[in-house]
Amino acid sequence: MSELAKLELNGKVYEFPVVEGTEKEKAIDISKLRDLTGYVTMDQGYKNTGACFSSITFLDGEEGILKYRGYTIEELAEKSNFLEVSYLLIFGNLPTKAELEKFENDIRKYTLVNEEMKNIIDGFPKSAHPMGILASLTSALTAFNPKSVNVNSEKDMYEAVCKTMGKFLVIATWTYRKNMGYPLNYYDNTKSYVENFMRLMFELPTGPYKIDPIVVQALDKLFILHADHEQNCSTSTVRIVGSSHAGLFASISAGVSALWGPLHGGANQAVLEMLEEIRVNGGDVAKYVLKAKDKDDPFRLMGFGHRVYKNFDPRAKIIKKAADDVLSTLGIEDPILDIAKQLEKTALEDDYFKSRNLYPNVDFYSGIIYRALGIPTDMFTVMFAIGRLPGWIAQWKEMRSNKEPIGRPRQIFTGHTQLTYVPINQR
Ligand code: SDX
Repeated sequence: MSELAKLELNGKVYEFPVVEGTEKEKAIDISKLRDLTGYVTMDQGYKNTGACFSSITFLDGEEGILKYRGYTIEELAEKSNFLEVSYLLIFGNLPTKAELEKFENDIRKYTLVNEEMKNIIDGFPKSAHPMGILASLTSALTAFNPKSVNVNSEKDMYEAVCKTMGKFLVIATWTYRKNMGYPLNYYDNTKSYVENFMRLMFELPTGPYKIDPIVVQALDKLFILHADHEQNCSTSTVRIVGSSHAGLFASISAGVSALWGPLHGGANQAVLEMLEEIRVNGGDVAKYVLKAKDKDDPFRLMGFGHRVYKNFDPRAKIIKKAADDVLSTLGIEDPILDIAKQLEKTALEDDYFKSRNLYPNVDFYSGIIYRALGIPTDMFTVMFAIGRLPGWIAQWKEMRSNKEPIGRPRQIFTGHTQLTYVPINQR
C-alpha cells in the first residue's frame, strides 16, 4: 500500500499519493489539489516544491552530496574530463572510448560560427557585460540554425547537442575578445575542447599561444564542477522556457540571463569584487562579517549560503583545494586567497552563519582560480555558463523527451477586486 498524505479542509479529508525517488526523497503529488479542493499551494521561491522528475543530478543539501547520473562529483572531478561528463549528463551513460572520440569529432563539425554573427557582436558597446552579449548571441544562433530540434529524432537531438556545445564555447570567448578590442578567434579542430577555450580567449595574431597543461587541467575540473546542479534558478529557467517548445538556443539564452544574477552565477564575480574591496580597505575581514550580519545593511557575504546545501557545498571543498594547488604550481602569491580563507574561518566560527547553515558555495573560491589563470573578473560568470551548458542541454532534453506540460504556475491575487473606469478628465 503506497503512502498517502491526508489534508483536512473545511471538515473534509482529502488524500494525495506520496511519490518516492530512487534516493528515497519523498513528495506529495498535489496534481489534483485544485480540482479536488479549489485551493492552490503557495511556496515563494519554490523552496518546498518539486517541479519535475529527473534522473540527471541528485544532491543532498543536508549531507553535502552531489552526483551526476549516480557518480559522485568527487570521483568525476578526479577521474573524468569535461567532455566525458558532458556526454554522461546529456546521454545518461559514460561513453566508450569510441563514443567519446566521436562526440568530440562531431562537436568539431559545428565549431565554425556564421560570419554574419560578427555584425551582431559589433553592435555592442565595448562596455557591454559579457553575459549580456552571450545571452544575445546565443539567442541569435537560432536565426542561423532555424531548424528546430525534433526531440523525437535521436539523430536531430545529437546534432543539436554537438552544435550547441561547439558554437556556445566560441561565442562565449568572443564576448571577451570584443571587450578587449581583439580580433575574434576560430576554434582549432586539432586541439581539445578546453585547450581551445584558452586559445580562443588569449591567442593573438601577433604570435603563437602556448597552452599550459596545468591551466587546462584546472579549467577542465572547474567546468566539471559547474556542469549541472538539478533544478537551480537558471536550469529551471531553461526548462520552463523549453516547456513552451521554444528552441534549444532560445532556452539556453534564457538560462544565461538567469545565471547572470549576483544571487546565482553572478556571485563568482561578486565574490572577487567583495574580496578586492576588503583587501583595498585594509583587509579588515571582521568588519565585513559584521556588515553581512547587519539586517540594516544590504551587504551579504557573496559566495556564502545556498538554497539547498545546509552543509558544505562539496564543489567548494574541491575548488578550495584546486585553488591552493593551481596557485602554488603556478607560483602565484595572491593576497585575495589569504583574505578568502580568513573570511571563511571567521564566518564559520560565527554563530550567525553557523545557526543559518551558511557555508562557502561553489562561487566562493572559483574566482580565485580564474584570476590566477588570467581570466578577467567580468568573464567569471561566462566561465560558469560554459561549465553549466551540458547540464542545461541535458535538462532541456529530458523535459522535452518526457513530453512535460508547459510550465504555468498559479497565484493568489491581492489587488483591487472591482473598480469602475473614470474618464481621464475626471481623475
Ligand atoms: C549558486 O541553486 C543552486 O544550485 C545554485 C548554484 C548552482 O550550481 O546552480 O549552486 C550556484 O547560485 C550558488 C549561490 C551563489 N549566491 C551567492 O553566493 C550569493 C550570496 N548568497 C545568498 O544570497 C543566499 O545564500 C542564497 C541566495 C544563495 C540562498 O538564499 P536563500 O536560500 O533564499 O536563503 P535566505 O535568503 O532565505 O537566507 C536565510 C537567512 C537569512 O537571514 P534571516 O532572515 O534568517 O535572519 O540567511 C541569511 C539571510 O539574510 N543569509 C545570508 C547570506 N545568505 C543567506 N546572510 C549573509 N550573507 C549571505 N550570503
